[in-house]
Amino acid sequence: MNKEELTEILSDNSNNNRLYKEADRVRRENVGDKVHLRGLIEFSNICKRQCKYCGLRSPNKDVERYRILKDDIINTAANAVNLGYRTIVLQSGEDDYYDTDKITEIIREIKKFDVALTLSIGEKTYDEFKEFKKAGADRYLLRIETTDENLYKEMHPHASYENRKRCLYDLKSLGFETGTGCLVGLPNQTIESLADDILFFKEIDADMIGIGPFIPHEQTPLKDASKGDFWLALKVMALTRINLPNINIPATTAMETLNPQGRIIALQSGANVVMPNVTSTEYRAKYEIYPGKICINDQPEKCRGCIEGKIRAIGRTISKNKGFRNKPNL
Ligand code: 5AD
Ligand code: FES
Repeated sequence: MNKEELTEILSDNSNNNRLYKEADRVRRENVGDKVHLRGLIEFSNICKRQCKYCGLRSPNKDVERYRILKDDIINTAANAVNLGYRTIVLQSGEDDYYDTDKITEIIREIKKFDVALTLSIGEKTYDEFKEFKKAGADRYLLRIETTDENLYKEMHPHASYENRKRCLYDLKSLGFETGTGCLVGLPNQTIESLADDILFFKEIDADMIGIGPFIPHEQTPLKDASKGDFWLALKVMALTRINLPNINIPATTAMETLNPQGRIIALQSGANVVMPNVTSTEYRAKYEIYPGKICINDQPEKCRGCIEGKIRAIGRTISKNKGFRNKPNL
């Protein structure tokens, strides 16, 4: 689809159900009925950046900050592997305490478990990305957040849109399965720019796309902004599936925060991945990117069983492999 077509579909809500169904069909035909689970470890909520929407932004003094150290991260990963996860995602704020040596050591230890490893630790240099790849990291998540350059500048003080794009192209060229994505419902975000976001995903040939509605956080400059619309975020996700048929698309936690059936609805509208939290319960509430995050009082075992039940209830099953794009058996 071109920009005009995408904009038209995004603006017209009379055929939404047909669109969600079509995305579901494209998902089934291209990536099948298996759902890939990724065990998410939120290992540090310390962040040097100031994204205006994010509760973990450095000026927020009301967060109790934590770092999980190497041995604990590895134990958490081992527990996730015992629960059946075949991918571990390491996510954090942009926390310089974890330098290249620390991260590569953690990567090497976790890769001993015969799992795929995804990093989601922010913008780095080409050489840093290269070291992560050499150490065994398979995938990297870095949402572009928005391709509207002016809005990007407005939302990310002291950051550079060019550098964010540079990171994504570097990751692709280094052979990472590269994940990006956007927020839906940021203040002053236009429908046209959401169409551009989808075209950008296609342009960089993203392997994974995460899309979530914006949820205002009390301790950020956007506390009085309106929240994003669940159904519009779902629509951007469905259009992403239709335009990038064989990629991996998670049913995001932010969707479930706005709608108690959010992840299941997403799995039936184009998504084929879920990323349950496997972090110890003691840290979960402190990783408050946005308020109302699900599962903050639950144990990893509970989330594993919970999500499997929901997936089976809609007639889908959990994949037993690592879930690489285009390599359904690996
Ligand atoms: N609402 C929804 N999603 C958010 N993120 C950060 N802050 C918010 C918020 N207030 C998303 C960003 C980031 C991901 C880890 O969380 O898109 O890339
Ligand atoms: Fe955590 Fe349902 S996924 S309780």
